[in-house]
Amino acid sequence: MVYIKVTTFLSLLAAVSAAPASELESRAVPKDTAFGFLALRSASPIHYQSLNASGGKIWLGKKTSTYCPLPAKQCPKGKDTSFWINNQGGTAGMNTVVPGGQQVYIGPTGELSYTQAHSAFIPTGSTQTGFKVTERNNIVFLENCNNSFLACPVNKKSKTSGPWQVFVDVKGKLKDKDVPTKCKKDCLGFTPAGGPVKDAVWQYA
Ligand SMILES: *[C@@H]1O[C@H](CO)[C@@H](O)[C@H](O)[C@H]1NC(C)=O
Ligand SMILES: *[C@@H]1O[C@H](CO)[C@@H](O)[C@H](O)[C@H]1NC(C)=O
Repeated sequence: MVYIKVTTFLSLLAAVSAAPASELESRAVPKDTAFGFLALRSASPIHYQSLNASGGKIWLGKKTSTYCPLPAKQCPKGKDTSFWINNQGGTAGMNTVVPGGQQVYIGPTGELSYTQAHSAFIPTGSTQTGFKVTERNNIVFLENCNNSFLACPVNKKSKTSGPWQVFVDVKGKLKDKDVPTKCKKDCLGFTPAGGPVKDAVWQYA
């Protein structure tokens, strides 16, 4: 598998978007790598924004936030947000080297989230499974069962300029009151697509 920056997937993605679905070949996904993802939602402000980790949540239009307690030279080289997906168990984790790792989960009100470093705490009512990656024509797609990924603006102003918080609408149960603007219709559905990312970070902060 060739490791390239998530952002260089733009041209590959454009090629895939243009290809008829029947020409897209489905393949088993290599299990030995983490992946970074971009949002696909054509003709929208979130198209090609990358899924970035910050403050225990996943965002579009927000910078990745990381922390490394070691001298810079000893820190892992990763800068981007990337995830390990366990297709067998349906679980996901952040691509970090911090002891204990950082587990990915969907919070009780749908927020795509990850645990803090050195803590296994996951709120009651969260969902930790259902994650899966599939590969078509070298593009990797992240799925959570049949549940849709939503990008929700944090306020009315951020509808066009971001940032957007990523939610997973587990079984369509997400309510207006669960999203930042208190109106689910403000959220945009999207498909997360991307490719392998080699370098981990120490931890996402
Ligand atoms: C999100 O992360 C990507 C990859 O690290 C970066 O290129 C992009 O600028 C980030 N988004 C924002 C809004 O900072
Ligand atoms: C998910 O979608 C597939 C294909 O559309 C369908 O066969 C399957 O029953 C769905 N599963 C659930 C849990 O809704």
